[in-house]
Amino acid sequence: MPLAIGPKMRYLYERARRIDVKSVIERAKEVHAEHGKAVPTTVVDMLWSAGKHDVAFQDYVDFDFAILNRAERATFMTHPVSMQLAARYSQPEGRKVFEDKIAFNRRFADYIEREWMVVTEDNAAEVQAFAERLGTVIAKVPVSHMGLGVRRYHAADVTDWAEFHAKLLADGEILLEEVIAQHDELAAVCPGTVNTTRIVAFFDGTDVHILAATQKFGRGQVSDQMSFGGFYTMLDPDTGRAMSAGYDSHGHVHETHPDTGYRIADLQLPHYDQAIDLIKRAAREVPEVQYAGWDVVVTADGADLVEGNWGAGVYENKPSVSGIRTGHKPRYRQAIGF
Ligand SMILES: Nc1ncnc2c1ncn2[C@@H]1O[C@H](COP(=O)(O)OP(=O)(O)OP(=O)(O)O)[C@@H](O)[C@H]1O
Ligand SMILES: [Mg+2]
Repeated sequence: MPLAIGPKMRYLYERARRIDVKSVIERAKEVHAEHGKAVPTTVVDMLWSAGKHDVAFQDYVDFDFAILNRAERATFMTHPVSMQLAARYSQPEGRKVFEDKIAFNRRFADYIEREWMVVTEDNAAEVQAFAERLGTVIAKVPVSHMGLGVRRYHAADVTDWAEFHAKLLADGEILLEEVIAQHDELAAVCPGTVNTTRIVAFFDGTDVHILAATQKFGRGQVSDQMSFGGFYTMLDPDTGRAMSAGYDSHGHVHETHPDTGYRIADLQLPHYDQAIDLIKRAAREVPEVQYAGWDVVVTADGADLVEGNWGAGVYENKPSVSGIRTGHKPRYRQAIGF
């Protein structure tokens, strides 16, 4: 079935309206630096790929389209295509649960191992007790964008609990969570950040299909997101084995983790089957959201669900790093039927 023309046309219109010539040229220069392709040719190819094949400029750069032929390019998932799937396969009622981290934790309580609490006007004493018992807590802005609403606080640093409590409220950081205890293998790669696994799944009403799996790695900061210096590698969606070295959207490639020396391509994610099993159950909970990107953390004896994203982004193979010139789109197509 072809994808809905409505959202697609709207997206194209929005994109045309906002085409940032400077940013296309900047990205074409990155492509030139990396692959030696002439800037003007690349600009034309990027615009053509965007308009004709739903390839965002950043996808073009990240997935090395400059060195791929037409048939190879067609196997890569891209952000515009993912947006169309999200628009088609999620309803507003369901999205609400995913957009609010408190609503999500409540709805998915059965899949969440860590402790958590909500900061309210009158619970400074409770916040103090929670933080002092756990030592360190993660504070989240429940409805946030760009992944920047996550902070880490140590109880030992707090001198005035009334002030700390008031500050959390004022900054909207009202969801407090226990720090997830990740599996030793993940701690061996990067102990200072909880390294999440992104699993994209599609629920067709009967079965849940696993479309792609990605292992993200932090750099010691609170979050493993790229805005905090994080990077990723794709995992074989059937086995949880790393497919290559790590990389990010800023042109960095990491054969080994810069802070620990762990060889990224050697990772076999432990308990991968348990993580998949958790997602296969979770993906049925809110049938109004059939297509989603789930963040989970593999722990000593299973997996802990962090969040679900109905507007899932795209993580793909990077051919210049992995040597793999095929993306995940055929797998998406087969499961979803587009
Ligand atoms: N309870 C936790 N314990 C330890 N680390 C956490 C915890 N929750 C989140 N993190 C870290 O912070 C990262 C971001 O958290 P989360 O997925 O909740 O938000 P986000 O992806 O930044 O938000 P959004 O995509 O909604 O803007 C995680 O990938 C993980 O590295
Ligand atoms: Mg996340």
